[in-house]
Amino acid sequence: MSPEVSSGQDNPAKSISDLLNNDSPLRLERRSYQPPIVPVFQNGSGVIRPLEGFSLEVLKAAKEQLPLVTENKLVGIIAGDTMQEHPRRIGIVLSGGPAPGGHNVIAGVFEAAKRAHPENALIGFLAGPKGIITNKHIEVTGEMIGDFKNSGGFHMLGTGRDKIDNAEKMNKCRQTCIDLSLDGLVVVGGDDSNTNAAFLAENMKDIGVQVIGIPKTIDGDLQVPGLLQVPFGYHSACMSFATEVGNLNSDCKSDLKYWHFNRLMGRSASHIALEVALQTHPNVILIGEEIEDKELTIHNVVRLIADVIVDRAQRGMNYGTILIPEGILEFIHEINILIIKISYIIAIYDKEAHNEETFHKLPFEDQVQLIDNHDIWRDYDSRVFLGLPTELQKGLLLPRDSHGNFQYAQVRTERILIDMVSTYLRKQRSKGIYRGVFKNQNHYYGYDGRGTFPTKFDCDYGYNLGVTAFGLLTNGCTGYMAAIKDLHKPLEQWQPLGIPLAPLMHLEERKGRLELVIEKQKVDLKSTAFKTLAKERANWAREDHYRFPGPIQFYGPCSDIKPLTLQLNAFDL
Ligand code: FBP
Repeated sequence: MSPEVSSGQDNPAKSISDLLNNDSPLRLERRSYQPPIVPVFQNGSGVIRPLEGFSLEVLKAAKEQLPLVTENKLVGIIAGDTMQEHPRRIGIVLSGGPAPGGHNVIAGVFEAAKRAHPENALIGFLAGPKGIITNKHIEVTGEMIGDFKNSGGFHMLGTGRDKIDNAEKMNKCRQTCIDLSLDGLVVVGGDDSNTNAAFLAENMKDIGVQVIGIPKTIDGDLQVPGLLQVPFGYHSACMSFATEVGNLNSDCKSDLKYWHFNRLMGRSASHIALEVALQTHPNVILIGEEIEDKELTIHNVVRLIADVIVDRAQRGMNYGTILIPEGILEFIHEINILIIKISYIIAIYDKEAHNEETFHKLPFEDQVQLIDNHDIWRDYDSRVFLGLPTELQKGLLLPRDSHGNFQYAQVRTERILIDMVSTYLRKQRSKGIYRGVFKNQNHYYGYDGRGTFPTKFDCDYGYNLGVTAFGLLTNGCTGYMAAIKDLHKPLEQWQPLGIPLAPLMHLEERKGRLELVIEKQKVDLKSTAFKTLAKERANWAREDHYRFPGPIQFYGPCSDIKPLTLQLNAFDL
């Protein structure tokens, strides 16, 4: 039967090609949703005014490296309009890992710009910051916005992780902006991309190109206490992971035979694990920041997991779900020391250029030898390193990313922990303490959640961040991050802001030297969200209190949900 031939009276589908249309019915349906605009932008691009009551200190290094944008003050945006006489040309770049809601940021900037002046133009740089450096771009059209609005991924423009870290790259960016006659640039990204934004703002002030950053990252670690509760993308990724973990809760409670070890993406901070835990009530939840606070070793962590397995086995419960944040290694002191030292040794080795032979081209044994011979490597480091499973040793030696970050996503920590827990349980069995059956499955949730459909919250949030960025540009701001305060309240009460980028920066060791970068925010152990988890988790470990959040809903009574961490932190405990 040809694809276009009708399938007969009983089949309501028109044709096979209709059924296989690239646009799924949900994607088609989502396009028709128009995110509402926060009230201050309903009659114009808004007017800025200083926002008092928050103290934002700027580090000496930031004052020295960013002298022009360092004086920026925190601003709120109120209703009003700044008259726009000439058409504006604005560039936009998506940067770093994808985060659901990014297409709505573009839609927000585009539609705000077109409302302000029909001849305003939005230029999208392709494949991330490299697109600015090499001047690869397309002009964003209404048709593209219609296609991509409320959809996941970053594929309208693509993304990348290039760091604009030398004069040559910066000059190329300046030249691109001059060639395209841009007067504004919006950088959508996480901590490293907003660091790029700060330096671009500083270096393009003299040519009149204003730069505004947008807080994006599924990791949830781009926060400013009291001003920015979560970046966009975090909620959707958490809900995607929570759907999977909820499904595993359901499966393991039915089949009663597997322990599911779930590693969750999120880089170093454990914000994602915290939200997913609150959504699903698993039996064991590791939170990196707590492990650091309690100074636990990797063997303590293994015992913590095994103790729950042994306890449940005594009551015939040889199943359960465990959440492991991918960045947990950073919070285990003895391992973090190795990560820092190895990163330094790799950076120095690669800088010295051994006939183009970088560290990662050496065989594993030679890499270990090289590390072992380095001045900063102590006997104690060797003892710790050699005592680790080979998979973890190899993981610690993996290449760092272009910003010098350790690539947690590449280390299969859940497998390493399964092996270590198995060994420990065997010992417990030989002592007669453990009599259960340890059958296990490992899972990694990461790239899937980055590419999911955005929740309605992220659709609205992303869109209004785009509108806010445009408002800041029309008010002459540069070197700011667009943000929205009071996200736990209804959208009608959201408050758009401009947060200066310079005070958000601190010094961090990258590629063997201290660099000025935006500081990541870790899970606050004093927050209501964490304290709630700490209060409940012993019950969740012993008995089953599984919660099944189900898939992201775009319509109906469950579509208006927000992150639980965001809502809980609005309470005092
Ligand atoms: P951003 O910090 O750019 O938002 O990226 C987040 C992230 O998804 C992390 O959670 C993860 O560790 C990392 O990117 C994976 O990087 P890559 O895409 O290079 O594999």
